[in-house]
Amino acid sequence: MEWFVEAFLKAALVWLGAGVLLGLLFTVSPQQVVYRPAHAHINLLGFVSMMIFGVAYHVIPRFTGNALFSRRAAGWNWWISNVGLVLLVAGFFMRPHAVGAAAPALAVGGTLAAAGAFIFITNVWKTIDGN
Ligand code: HEM
Ligand code: HEM
Repeated sequence: MEWFVEAFLKAALVWLGAGVLLGLLFTVSPQQVVYRPAHAHINLLGFVSMMIFGVAYHVIPRFTGNALFSRRAAGWNWWISNVGLVLLVAGFFMRPHAVGAAAPALAVGGTLAAAGAFIFITNVWKTIDGN
């Protein structure tokens, strides 16, 4: 297994643990629901997307019989997606208390998380095409 496949699978599991704990906190302390966007993105970008990224990087080259277009880009995908999500989530946690301070974290984190997704889109598309 490539290092970035293992890293995506493990990151997805860590994000799932964090997302479920935050969801659990909402059920016992409903006023914490102000952090719902953090919970949604920890679970959907952290667990669901990263699990898909890791599994796709492993199976799509095998399904298609083509080598992964760029292993380097897949490594960058991991770093950019995870750093981006940490910042995005930090921004979502800060926003109810300090909108001004949250704005740069949201903007930079959101841009990095989006960039990670576009690296994935390009890398998998070119792998399918066998470029
Ligand atoms: C034990 C696990 C979980 C618990 C206890 C939990 C609990 C909650 C609670 C209490 C809310 C707020 C609902 C409200 O607005 O009042 C919420 C929202 C949400 N949860 Fe979870 N959650 C869990 C796991 C997950 C997972 C695994 C995912 C996704 C894979 C997820 C996705 C979402 C999303 C997207 C929202 C926002 C929904 C919206 O936009 O209204 N949750 N969750
Ligand atoms: C670069 C990637 C993404 C960015 C920057 C982003 C950003 C945002 C922002 C700023 C909001 C509004 C939050 C609010 O003000 O309440 C939002 C809401 C939401 N997004 Fe995303 N998003 C991204 C990707 C995704 C993906 C991939 C999914 C699903 C797989 C998703 C699901 C949701 C959901 C369910 C909500 C409503 C959350 C709530 O009820 O609080 N987002 N997103």
